[in-house]
Amino acid sequence: MLHWPFVVRLVIAVDGPSGAGEATAARAVARSLGYRHGDTGARYRAVGWRARQLGIALDDEAAVTAVAEAARFDLDDGAIRIDGHDVTSAIRTPEMDKAATLVARNAAVRTVLVARQRALGAEGGVVMEGRDIGTVVFPQAALKIYLDASPEERARRRAADPAHTSGRIAAVAEVAVDLAARDKADSTRSVAPLMKADDAVYIDTTGIPIDDVVGRVLALARERAGARGSGPGSRD
Ligand code: DC
Repeated sequence: MLHWPFVVRLVIAVDGPSGAGEATAARAVARSLGYRHGDTGARYRAVGWRARQLGIALDDEAAVTAVAEAARFDLDDGAIRIDGHDVTSAIRTPEMDKAATLVARNAAVRTVLVARQRALGAEGGVVMEGRDIGTVVFPQAALKIYLDASPEERARRRAADPAHTSGRIAAVAEVAVDLAARDKADSTRSVAPLMKADDAVYIDTTGIPIDDVVGRVLALARERAGARGSGPGSRD
């Protein structure tokens, strides 16, 4: 028997282009609700890292797919390991940005990783972020958010993020060029291109403090859980 207050564990999908704030927002929302945070981009990155470590060319689609199939991922509070290797910082370099974009174009790799992502969210209670979460991975998600920001702001954020610049401050103009190239590759590829789901809530985060973005997503989560006769859960 279910006792009041019955808590619905929602699936919350967060998508958007690089640097729109998905990772930071998804992590904060997950923490606040006591949900798991699913960073799907980290898995595409880790597969790219592992393939290169094994000397596999990233355009060898079958070999890279075999890497994804065999991969053992451990994700814990922002840290990621693949097959026992801690790649938390190694996957956030400009080189790995490009490698991940190539891996993400591989339809067979996507099939493998999407199945794992679905398993992760099967019981709800997850905030999953990426490019295709609301469109492909969880088209039935209770709440879909599409975060965006101006290209200039996204480049500024990425350039100032030590996780993406190996601790040094990168030149914004340089980052902007790479970002534009990746956005184009991610949104024009034939399989699961980046796009807003019709029923996603669009939030332009340009000039908006991350706490406000998180507050807005939490309010929406409460609303959606309320529509299901409950609360979304909370650690508060
Ligand atoms: O979010 P990120 O920068 O870590 O993503 C790395 C690459 O993987 C980027 O090119 C987008 C791609 N990606 C994707 O195609 N689908 C996802 N669900 C997540 C990331």
